[in-house]
Amino acid sequence: MVSKAVIIGASSGIGRAIAKILASNGYIIGLVARRGNQLCELGAELRAPVFVKAIDVSKPAEAMRLLRELIAEMGGVELFVVSAGTGSINRKLDWECEQETIDVNVSGFAAVVNVAVEHLQARGSGHIVGISSLAAIRGNGEAPAYNASKAFISNYLQGLRHKFSKLKLPIVVTDVQPGFVNTAMAKGDGLFWVASPEKAARQIFVAICKRKRQVYVTKRWRFIAWILKAAPDWLYHRL
Ligand SMILES: NC(=O)c1ccc[n+]([C@@H]2O[C@H](COP(=O)([O-])OP(=O)(O)OC[C@H]3O[C@@H](n4cnc5c(N)ncnc54)[C@H](OP(=O)(O)O)[C@@H]3O)[C@@H](O)[C@H]2O)c1
Repeated sequence: MVSKAVIIGASSGIGRAIAKILASNGYIIGLVARRGNQLCELGAELRAPVFVKAIDVSKPAEAMRLLRELIAEMGGVELFVVSAGTGSINRKLDWECEQETIDVNVSGFAAVVNVAVEHLQARGSGHIVGISSLAAIRGNGEAPAYNASKAFISNYLQGLRHKFSKLKLPIVVTDVQPGFVNTAMAKGDGLFWVASPEKAARQIFVAICKRKRQVYVTKRWRFIAWILKAAPDWLYHRL
C-alpha cells in the first residue's frame, strides 16, 4: 500500500528537503505552508502525486479546518511531519516578535498536531514527527520565546507518546531536535556544525523508518545536548 504524508512547513528548508526524500521513496505528499507559490514549485519538481494547501498555522481555527480538508482530499494520511516554525534573536524582548513565535511554534503547532491526532486515532495507527530543536533543552536570553516554544513542542510530543502508550495505540511520535541547519532559520553569530537541509532530512528519514522516539540532527549534536543537560546554572550562564 502506498503511504501518504503531510509536511507542514514544506515551502523551504528542512520541511522542503523532507518532502523531497519522502516523494523519492514513494510517498504521496501533502505540502503545507503559507507560501502557496513555493509549494506549487516544489510540487512540480517532485516525481510523486502531490496535494498543495496554503495554510497559516498561526490562525489555529482556520488552519485546523484546512488541514482536515487536505486529509479528506488525500483520502487519509499515515505520516504527519510538523516542521513549520519561526523564531528570532530578541534581546529586547520585543513583544510582537515573542507573540509571533508563540503563535506559530506553540498555538500553531498544537493546533495542527491536534488534527493529526484526531485523524490517526480514528484510523488506529500512524506517525507524528515534530521538528523541535536542541533549543528545547535550556532557556536562552537571546531568544527566550523560541527556546521556550521548542521546550513546549518536545514536552507536548512526549505527552502524546504517553497518551498513545496508555491507549495501547500504535501511533509513533518522533521528536526531532536539530542543532544548526543551513536555512533562513539559522540566525546569530558563532554557528558551528551547520548541516545542509538535505543531510538533516536524510537523518530524519532514517529516524522515521526506524520509528525513533527522539533524535538529534545531526547525530554529533547529542554531545552538545549532554553538556546542555549536565551543566550547572553557574557554568551555563557563562557559555
Ligand atoms: N535551521 C536551524 O538551524 C534549525 C535548528 C533547530 C530547529 N529548527 C526548526 O526546524 C523547523 C524548520 O525550519 P527551517 O530551518 O527549515 O527554516 P525555514 O526554511 O525558514 O522553514 C520554516 C518553515 O515554516 C513555515 N512556516 C513559518 N511560519 C508559518 C506559518 N505561520 N504557517 C505555516 N507555515 C509556516 C515556512 O513556510 P511559509 O513561510 O511559506 O509559511 C517554512 O516552510 C523549524 O521549526 C525550526 O524551528 C531549525
